[in-house]
Amino acid sequence: MKLWGGRFTKETNQLVHNFNASISFDQKFYAQDIRGSIAHVTMLAKQGILTEAERDAIIDGLSSIQNDIESGALIIDGSSEDIHSFVESHLIDRIGDVGKKLHTGRSRNDQVALDMKLYTRDEIGETDALLVKLLHTLLKLMEENLDTYMPGFTHLQKAQPVTLAHHLGAYFEMFCRDRGRLADIRRRMNTCPLGAGALAGTTYPLDRDYTASLLGFDGPTGNSMDSVSDRDYLIEFLSALATIMMHLSRFCEEIILWNSNEYRFVELDDSYSTGSSIMPQKKNPDIAELIRGKTGRVYGALQSLLVTMKGLPLAYNKDMQEDKELSFDAMDTVKGCLALFEGMLSTMKFNATVMEASAKKGFTNATDAADYLVNHGVPFRDAHGMVGQLVLMCIERNIALDDLPLEDYRAVSPVFGPDIYEAISLKTCVEKRVTAGAPGRQSMENAIRQYRTYLEQ
Ligand code: ARG
Repeated sequence: MKLWGGRFTKETNQLVHNFNASISFDQKFYAQDIRGSIAHVTMLAKQGILTEAERDAIIDGLSSIQNDIESGALIIDGSSEDIHSFVESHLIDRIGDVGKKLHTGRSRNDQVALDMKLYTRDEIGETDALLVKLLHTLLKLMEENLDTYMPGFTHLQKAQPVTLAHHLGAYFEMFCRDRGRLADIRRRMNTCPLGAGALAGTTYPLDRDYTASLLGFDGPTGNSMDSVSDRDYLIEFLSALATIMMHLSRFCEEIILWNSNEYRFVELDDSYSTGSSIMPQKKNPDIAELIRGKTGRVYGALQSLLVTMKGLPLAYNKDMQEDKELSFDAMDTVKGCLALFEGMLSTMKFNATVMEASAKKGFTNATDAADYLVNHGVPFRDAHGMVGQLVLMCIERNIALDDLPLEDYRAVSPVFGPDIYEAISLKTCVEKRVTAGAPGRQSMENAIRQYRTYLEQ
């Protein structure tokens, strides 16, 4: 059934119908569409615009449609233009003329704005739950790896030693911020567009506050033109999703490096890696690579919607139908990636011995050797130069600072004593770093305590 045949004298060209139709993708929010319609007629009856009997007949009809879609008895086919027409025409088939009253005081413009908001709000909740699961996994790994030493890098060059707990803590912070963004968006978007009509409200005495409260909104949207043409919340959500992907992608990049033959910091579980059709020895990090790869797709969705919206005059324009496929794709992609990433991380083995051996090489304790001199009264800039000379000696002999004889230290500065070896041991280097946010045990235990409290809230 068409919702708008009256003023037309010719059938729609088939290609036009296909091009215009959105049912193939907007069926994804059939449940939200029905939920919105039930709230709408409940409000209409409260306002005396429908009788209670009419309301009940419509609600029964809508519920039976939902049940039948869910049981598979009713298939959403391509003959309707969109999910709104599909539901309305099936309602009229089932309950007769009273079904024709459903759309009183409503337009598809405020209807679709509502459906997409309800859908997005649900998606925010699901994405958040997946982030929480990932944070729990991260926290568990952190608690287990407070003493797992590893090199920290800058420019992908070994810089200073950290612990695995500390490294994972960086991602914990990122995913916490992601949750914060989702919460902000949910709070800002939580207003109900229903009642805005096509663009200019309606002449019926609608109670928009009531409809909003029935649907769990904080209240109705303001200006009716903005209500039907606002897609900011979706752009914000896509931006938050893009940021989640950026975080996952950086983590994946590290896991790919760590899993390489050169690093051997981790070993992926067999159930989360794949083989090669030609090279029998291979065990590839395809899941991490795919997550990194899919990041581009989610960025694309954000960019695409920004471009779609940039030239639109007020209020509704059909261009806005383009918000759906790309948003659905991005939402599903991020949920899938979060779930797979959590599985990959929780089954992965960390090779503590290799990590620690790597931290011992590469002069990650050079800063601490300079700090030793500073603690004995040498100005930092001079200390930096002296340790530079010591590093050069070590490079020539292919040894670590820990293995350089004391005479060589003393030849560079008489200030060095036998306690230098203790001062630059890996353990000292890490454990002395106890400023807030640093990798030393004391700081990490504090951080973990805060993270635990945060997750328990
Ligand atoms: N499928 C449309 C969309 O997604 C529904 C709104 C249609 N409104 C209209 N005036 N043609 O935007």
